[in-house]
Amino acid sequence: MTTLDPRPVILTGDRTTGPLHIGHYAGSLRNRLALQDSHRQFLLLADTQALTDNAHDPAKVRRNVLEVAMDYLAVGIDPAKSTICLQSHLPALAELSMLYLNFVTVARLERNPTIKDEIRQRGFGRDIPAGFLCYPAAQAADITGFRATVVPVGEDQAPLIEQTNEIVRRINAVAGQSILPEAQALIPEAGRLPGIDGRAKMSKSGGNAIALNASPDEIAAAVRAMFTDPGHLRVSDPGCVEGNVVFTYLDAFDPDRAEVEALKARYRVGGLGDTVIKRRLEGILQAMIAPIRARRAALAKDLGYVLSVVREGTERARERTEETKAQVIEALGLFRL
Ligand code: TRP
Repeated sequence: MTTLDPRPVILTGDRTTGPLHIGHYAGSLRNRLALQDSHRQFLLLADTQALTDNAHDPAKVRRNVLEVAMDYLAVGIDPAKSTICLQSHLPALAELSMLYLNFVTVARLERNPTIKDEIRQRGFGRDIPAGFLCYPAAQAADITGFRATVVPVGEDQAPLIEQTNEIVRRINAVAGQSILPEAQALIPEAGRLPGIDGRAKMSKSGGNAIALNASPDEIAAAVRAMFTDPGHLRVSDPGCVEGNVVFTYLDAFDPDRAEVEALKARYRVGGLGDTVIKRRLEGILQAMIAPIRARRAALAKDLGYVLSVVREGTERARERTEETKAQVIEALGLFRL
């Protein structure tokens, strides 16, 4: 059955370290929603990858598995169309990771821009967990384990897809056949959504995120606190649009493009106050988040259902990833007992 489905395969995932926020929504959830009919989509609850920088706190990783699953369902991922599955319960991915580690050098892993950034952000210094340094090989296993050709992710993930394709080419070369397909990153044009304070990365731990289930008060407070243009003191002053988080968010979420451009023009020349643009943004965010929050609250009362979705999805995913593992071992020509 499964192999007869002609739709291209998508694989994406999220580390289960906390509930998702509107940065995830703008960065990849929206793309995943748009593609769940035309593509065969797998969403990976990446709990083993989450351990690569959270080994000291496995409880956090465990607690957030169903949180992320609920976020997926609440934004509209439909389990009848998309498969939600749990990484730690897909042993073929771990086995592929072990094989792939032989097709990548330590120097190449250290040079991966995503890894370099993350090592800096986490302040590992010289104490980098080996699993962390090597997670690009594991992510290559995730992607190729599903034989995915499309990977909707934020732009920070692009180097990981590039490295996946390098591993794919090496394995295909050694196997002497195109056993694994290369994958393409699907990155939203808007770029990464900054935090409400204007810092480049929105994160729960950074305290500058708006959760997908934020309450009306939390949304209001976040918009009130939002970074605009510190030089824009009086309404009549000319204001700067670039780096102004309110406009960045309007660009990401306001469907009325023409109105946003008109507001930018007025803001630039002066005469448009921060309260006006903030009120507009708040209305948009409240309307966007309200139905997500309501669905999430209903799901939280029915964890048995959420669990059954993940269980069934993981079964389906197991079939597919075991198939890939067998193909790779066969193509590499390892001994068969
Ligand atoms: N690295 C991704 C993140 O930090 C999560 C992830 C794990 C992933 N496996 C993946 C993304 C496979 C895309 C494809 O958000």
